[in-house]
Amino acid sequence: MIPIVTIDGPSGTGKGTIADLLAQRLGWHCLDSGALYRVLGLVAQRRGLDPDAVAALASLVSTLQVEFRNGRVLLDGEDVSEAIRTETAGNAASRVAVHGAVRKQLLARQREAARLPGLVADGRDMGTVVFPDAQLKIFLQASTEERAERRYKQLKQKGLNVNLSRLVGEIRERDERDRNRSAAPLKPPSGALVVNTTSMTITEVFARVLVAVKRMFPDAAV
Ligand code: C5P
Repeated sequence: MIPIVTIDGPSGTGKGTIADLLAQRLGWHCLDSGALYRVLGLVAQRRGLDPDAVAALASLVSTLQVEFRNGRVLLDGEDVSEAIRTETAGNAASRVAVHGAVRKQLLARQREAARLPGLVADGRDMGTVVFPDAQLKIFLQASTEERAERRYKQLKQKGLNVNLSRLVGEIRERDERDRNRSAAPLKPPSGALVVNTTSMTITEVFARVLVAVKRMFPDAAV
């Protein structure tokens, strides 16, 4: 049995950071499932594909050569780590992610990530659909304003020109699409530990998650 911790939630809740920290601490593998949807969104945009061209998108998945290496995301050898992190790429990802046929094509690729000594998987449907038998499921939440604020600071630090109220609008739109789609909608898996991170620091969230991990996996090296 491969130990799996799933971390789901909307963007800006600290999922990615917590998943990375946890995988490092445990010495486990880490799956950033959102990166797969982002790469697909990016390729679709570059090729001028309609985000609703389901059959074309689904067959595109099997041709994607995506590699995660040293914290970078490579598409056919090209480093697309920055290109997939923009708000536009996030929105493109969420538009292609609504289709059940596209999601189905990505299932096997995500499940292959489950390898010993263990996996920390971050996304929207890790605990509900991709790894329903995961031993520990975590769901992170935070208010829209707080998540937009965090994103605003990140982008400002990168020297990018951003508008806070526009970010709030984009986050709302993406959340709504992710929550209301019929295929694998964003929702807390049953039995999940739900943490509202609105007024918490990353260190505090990580401490809370570690307590749950230690309880579930007493033999893990934490
Ligand atoms: O987590 P991240 O912000 O990188 O995800 C980008 C988009 O990809 C999400 O808004 C969501 O629509 C989609 N996604 C998904 N299922 C996942 C991970 C991401 O639908 N497991």
